[in-house]
Amino acid sequence: MANDQEQARAFIDQRLIDLFAPEDEALRAAREATQANDMPAIEISPLQGRLLQVLARLCNARSILEIGALAGYSGIWLARALPADGRFISLEVSEKHAQVARASLARAGIAAHTEVRVGPGAELLPALVAEAPFDLIFIDADKPGYLTYLDWALKLARPGSVIVADNCIRSGPPLAENYAAGDDTVRTVGEYDRRVASDPRLLSVALPIDEGGMDGFAISVVLGS
Ligand code: DHB
Ligand code: MG
Repeated sequence: MANDQEQARAFIDQRLIDLFAPEDEALRAAREATQANDMPAIEISPLQGRLLQVLARLCNARSILEIGALAGYSGIWLARALPADGRFISLEVSEKHAQVARASLARAGIAAHTEVRVGPGAELLPALVAEAPFDLIFIDADKPGYLTYLDWALKLARPGSVIVADNCIRSGPPLAENYAAGDDTVRTVGEYDRRVASDPRLLSVALPIDEGGMDGFAISVVLGS
């Protein structure tokens, strides 16, 4: 029974990717670059990539900020949702990861309107005030930094901007009542979820859409005053 269900689940997952989010050569290359460069295989799924594109189009995104580039896989999905004169900035703490991400974006033919900046998010974010507002902000970096990134995302957004955070579920512990007794990641992600769920400046939802429903996105739209 469980096996039948697992098989049906695997079939559905694959068919949804085939129908809605097939990878092209550039996306496949970005995924493979992760492995080839000994980076963790923790990029978003194709359906998450497509969802980011749908959200970007819904808010007419012309400027997108990503916190955490990894190998540029999500960056390709995001930057491809922009109009020709749009801009995509990704912040990445690792110089090596940034180089891999730049190569991925170049392979996708979108190097001209994309930029990967190297450094800790907390150091790079203040300078972005001069380049705000960003229409979509995607947070997918070190989990203990998520509350800092949320504070900055709110400063860099406009009413109608969308803020998305990956890994808002992490198999459940952040959602537990005793999340505050967990490690740094559980505590911070749990606090992130509770903040975006209750902040009157935001309308939010969290969706289990990765890792067989064990992880997913927290999606928030910034409300007007
Ligand atoms: C981890 C980070 C991620 O962004 C992710 O999607 C999955 C796992 C991690 O650091 O464990
Ligand atoms: Mg992630």
